[in-house]
Amino acid sequence: MKFFIDTANLAQIREANEMGVLDGVTTNPSLMARENIRGEEACRRHYVEICNIVDGDVSAEVISTDFEGMVREGEELAALHPNIVVKLPCTADGIRAVKYFSQKGIRTNCTLVFSAGQALLAAKAGATYVSPFVGRLDDIGEDGVELVAHIVQMYRYYGFETQVLAASIRHTQHIIRCVDAGADVATCPLAAIKGLLKHPLTDSGLAQFLADHAKVNG
Ligand code: G3P
Repeated sequence: MKFFIDTANLAQIREANEMGVLDGVTTNPSLMARENIRGEEACRRHYVEICNIVDGDVSAEVISTDFEGMVREGEELAALHPNIVVKLPCTADGIRAVKYFSQKGIRTNCTLVFSAGQALLAAKAGATYVSPFVGRLDDIGEDGVELVAHIVQMYRYYGFETQVLAASIRHTQHIIRCVDAGADVATCPLAAIKGLLKHPLTDSGLAQFLADHAKVNG
């Protein structure tokens, strides 16, 4: 399973990258706004900075909602760096743009996916990644991980190559459940990734090892 970090924060991206387990980055307009990045030019510079930190796929999302705008923006984003993946919303125009880019050999991430039907259309259009939003489904009383499992099963059955990228991951248990569901990728906040490390027996075991060592070595 690949780990992406779901942030536009450069310090967090560096920290996750230094752990040595990072395979890529996903961003969205809200995450870019959270870093106070204003204007097209600043956004582009920021994407390039991210690409220079991480050797892996970096999803950059279009703002346009019409096909022509998505194509224009997506082509500009893809030209920034070979690792850029054009992120497109799962709308009719978005699916059309996924198809357009897939025919041109430009990789895409079809985002804001909340149903198996949407994931089916994204795969048929040739998306590289499909992003079901786990946490946001949980927020409204549905089971986000169940959707991930459903999409994984559907893609395996039909032999689709689109990778299932579990998004809107909120905590460590989401990651573990997505592993069980067979997700290809989980894009996570840094805290959720670091949460995988936490175990009280690791902490107490290490303290004991160091105490025993100190007893003999002073
Ligand atoms: O990858 C999509 C993600 O950023 C959305 O997460 O927590 O805003 O639902 P969240």
